[in-house]
Amino acid sequence: MGLAEQCLQAYAQARRLTLPARYRQAKRVLVAGMGGSAIGGDLLQDMAHFQGATRAVFTWRDYGLPAWVDAETLVIASSYSGDTEETLSAFDAALKRGAPVVALTSGGELKRRAQAKGLPTIDITYKGEPRTSLGYSFLAPLALLADLGFLHCTEAEVEQAVCLLEGLASRYGEVVPEETNEAKALARKLWGKVPIVYSAGLLTGVARRWKTDFNENAKTWAFAEALPELDHNAVNAYARPVVARESAFVLLLRSSFLSPRLLLRYEATAAILKREGVAHEAVDAPGDGPLAHILGMVYLGSWASYYLALLCGVDPSPVPAIAYLKERLAQGA
Ligand code: PA5
Repeated sequence: MGLAEQCLQAYAQARRLTLPARYRQAKRVLVAGMGGSAIGGDLLQDMAHFQGATRAVFTWRDYGLPAWVDAETLVIASSYSGDTEETLSAFDAALKRGAPVVALTSGGELKRRAQAKGLPTIDITYKGEPRTSLGYSFLAPLALLADLGFLHCTEAEVEQAVCLLEGLASRYGEVVPEETNEAKALARKLWGKVPIVYSAGLLTGVARRWKTDFNENAKTWAFAEALPELDHNAVNAYARPVVARESAFVLLLRSSFLSPRLLLRYEATAAILKREGVAHEAVDAPGDGPLAHILGMVYLGSWASYYLALLCGVDPSPVPAIAYLKERLAQGA
């Protein structure tokens, strides 16, 4: 199943979920998850901020929960496997605080615990690596938050974004040669380099997603930073060490929905990168509409990381170091 179809399925599934009345009183939302299951929370947070939402949306990547989470905080526990210990710890903490909880998972302990408590659960039926279930980790909570009035998102907007993804699939796919395939061309430029992904506002979570896709799919170092903050520190550091300057490739992810001041910062920052001799390139979000910009950019980054994996001669699917850590931690030593 492609991302477009997965998005539609996840959105429709979440729309069918009936939430208990008290969930509708929630004053804020916290998405608890790790890695590929947490990124949807960041994308929601960016959308909420972009729309000027008056009720906060947070992402939590840790054990337990922040002290402010209470019975009026909707907690969405997101774990593809359902066995991620940090997310299970957050889930248990949410129940202790009396918070309304929704589980988003394909199975594991999270599903078992949620079922035992009779909690609303969104079943991830998509099969793949956890990070590739982004249609679920983003669109399912998006449907819930739109229903609860935290965010605006119409079916038309979802359809428009999905339509863009379908079009992009035929632009970035394997049969499309490098000369006309933006994802392959990007991977070629990044080969042997350290991708540093810059973004701002609506695309802040997207940059993090690019970084994590480069880490997990291409098994390569990558970093992400956001404007305007990076203009107050990172821009001062490009010269040293020389090995870092020569290894870096800065990607400036842009959206026409960013404010004129931020867009001016992109230009000014690129001028510094040029002056300092740091390889860089601006990447503009495809499509129309904020949701389309987020999803289209996520998609391009995933394809680019996939092609980078192939160039590096690594299998994009397994994540042995993550598996080792989970196993080691499970042994308790
Ligand atoms: O994509 C991956 O494999 C990881 O980033 C996982 O998402 C992360 O380790 C958390 O696991 P899960 O998504 O099963 O909760």
